[in-house]
Amino acid sequence: MSASRRRLFVTTALPYANGPFHIGHIMEYIQADVWVRAQRMGGHEVHFVCADDAHGAPIMLKAESEGVTPQALVACVAATRPKHLAGFRIGFDHWHSTDSPENVELSQDIYRKLKSAGLIEARTIEQFYDPVKAMFLPDRYIKGECPKCGAADQYGDACENCSSVYSPTDLKKPYSALSGATPVLRTSEHHFFRLSDPACVAFLRDWALGDRLQPEVANKAREWLDAGGKGLADWDISRDAPYFGIPIPDAPGKYFYVWLDAPVGYLASLKAHLRDRGADFAAFLADPAVEQVHFIGKDIVYHHTLFWPAMLKFAGAPYKVPDRVHVHGFITFSGEKMSKSRGTGISPDVYLDLGLDPEWLRYYLAAKLNGRVEDLDFNPDDFLARVNSDLVGKYVNIASRAAPFLTRHFDGRIATPSENAAARAERRAAARAGAEAARANYEAREYGRVMRDAMRVADRLNEAFDAAQPWLLAKDPARRDELQTICSQSLLGFLQLTVTLAPVLPGLASRVARELFGLGRELTWDDAALEPATVNPFRHLMQRIDPKQIDALLEGPKAALSPSPPAPLPADAGRGGVAAPLSRTAGEGPGVRESDAPTIAIDDFAKVDLRIARIVNAEQVEGADKLVKLTLDVGEGRHRTVFAGIKAAYRPEDLVGRLTPMVANLAPRKMKFGVSEGMVLAASGDGPGVYLLAPDTGAQPGMKVK
Ligand code: 2FM
Ligand code: ZN
Repeated sequence: MSASRRRLFVTTALPYANGPFHIGHIMEYIQADVWVRAQRMGGHEVHFVCADDAHGAPIMLKAESEGVTPQALVACVAATRPKHLAGFRIGFDHWHSTDSPENVELSQDIYRKLKSAGLIEARTIEQFYDPVKAMFLPDRYIKGECPKCGAADQYGDACENCSSVYSPTDLKKPYSALSGATPVLRTSEHHFFRLSDPACVAFLRDWALGDRLQPEVANKAREWLDAGGKGLADWDISRDAPYFGIPIPDAPGKYFYVWLDAPVGYLASLKAHLRDRGADFAAFLADPAVEQVHFIGKDIVYHHTLFWPAMLKFAGAPYKVPDRVHVHGFITFSGEKMSKSRGTGISPDVYLDLGLDPEWLRYYLAAKLNGRVEDLDFNPDDFLARVNSDLVGKYVNIASRAAPFLTRHFDGRIATPSENAAARAERRAAARAGAEAARANYEAREYGRVMRDAMRVADRLNEAFDAAQPWLLAKDPARRDELQTICSQSLLGFLQLTVTLAPVLPGLASRVARELFGLGRELTWDDAALEPATVNPFRHLMQRIDPKQIDALLEGPKAALSPSPPAPLPADAGRGGVAAPLSRTAGEGPGVRESDAPTIAIDDFAKVDLRIARIVNAEQVEGADKLVKLTLDVGEGRHRTVFAGIKAAYRPEDLVGRLTPMVANLAPRKMKFGVSEGMVLAASGDGPGVYLLAPDTGAQPGMKVK
């Protein structure tokens, strides 16, 4: 799509390794992951890395209070990362740690080079010392009033109210957050990075120009650079023992301040990642085509627009300065700041444990993200509405309505015989233009625009489908061409929309590409105007959110989703409890007849032990026309074998991983091919189709169905 292949080195801010991810981390990773996926869909080379930010006093003190080494604490936290990253489909190429040999080597190398450039200076300073804890107090453990705006209870390094960065000794009315004692001043030799050097200031002024930074970020950087005519303050980059960090070369008892080695962790992670791929770190960075892009939150702009570019610039080769810093706002919750202590916000852990679809959250965040430094509000009602009405009700709906007609009446053949050449050319040109606009909006991080444009297209496709009334066309053999045309147009429109939404909905897009259209690969931007010859039978793509799931999410970790009781039957349900098909959204009516089964008592029904099973393996049965051999996990600590008569409807490999209800207490039956230990449940009508049932998101193997 784009003429030249870009080489991108992309990072998100490194999270402190003192606890699991919160929703703010997940939002940033999703923002970056969407951007990265959009690049990859254009064929660009992307190296997307992150790491745990392991060092610093808070981690050292937390480990001490828990009676473990800082390394053990960091390892424990690191072990929680894969669940969240995989759970939200965040595709980092590499996850590293700042407490790694690569980071020691690179941090010390950068320091030595800055020293050779004359930019490191040792000075004796007075620093706060806690006479009760007998240690120099880290900035974050001295609190007091902000010297600039007077806000109370601010940390010793920066003000959360006015974003000023300062020294702890600048604080008014200081106190030790560790002991509450009033700290005393003691002298110590510290190492400073001479940011005030005119060469640094001149470089940073120049660097902050151009399109590297959003306008509001560039303005802020310039404000800091001017600092009312006083210029930049030098930066204290050393800390005294005891400190969990990287030793400063030739300075016994001194360690790098965590913010010195944290961004170097970007490079350490890249280095380890490239080494794993057999590529050379220095050669990669030396390539002028490489673009270095950092995604960060608005609270760490100072570090990324002043300290970090200056470190890289004056350390020289092989380092390069960042090409772009993409800054986002915070996530708020119904208009309030997220706070664990006040119990507001949502936990990524609970979200995943409840089995909520990660792509609901990805879609919702994308719908609200833009390229500016604005806070994003998570509103539960809005979340429910956007997912259910827009994502499922508009977008997924297109395929679930159109595809069954093509399967049933045309053997799945996609064709538009009633469309003339000009209309076809116009449709395809619009699809390409739509994809190009989406690509450009992703590049600019205007994801909300992409989602809005996609929903407008979905509205048009649904309107055209309704206007054509395919359910009536299907009854008139003379109008077959029209039926095939409108359903194919809808489905091709759905494919185009899937291409534009793929960076946000990677799992769903992959299933559409592989299962529905049988492409055998992931989608690229060039697929927007693709016209596959056939569509496979439609299989459920995405559930709507049940409001009960939102309640459970908001209640937090204590709430578990118990399987919902059966919904009361509508008053007009057929005798025997088989509800008539009520909605067109589920596709063509299957021609359900009234039940002719005798009425049973609830006790009779209770005899059937229905359970959720995961299909862990599925294979053809040699010599059997109809059977597939399923290996099922029913949460019993062993696997069961069940032979199911679904061969005509499913390829075994497509079944693996699916959940389905099964009768778990059916007497084992000896068959020609082996013993069958239960029965899976499937729907069928008068036609040949057999449709395996699927539970709602959240169900787990072994759960009882009642
Ligand atoms: O603010 C934070 O959470 C830091 N751990 C971010 C570090 S970003 C980078 F510089 F490593
Ligand atoms: Zn302030």
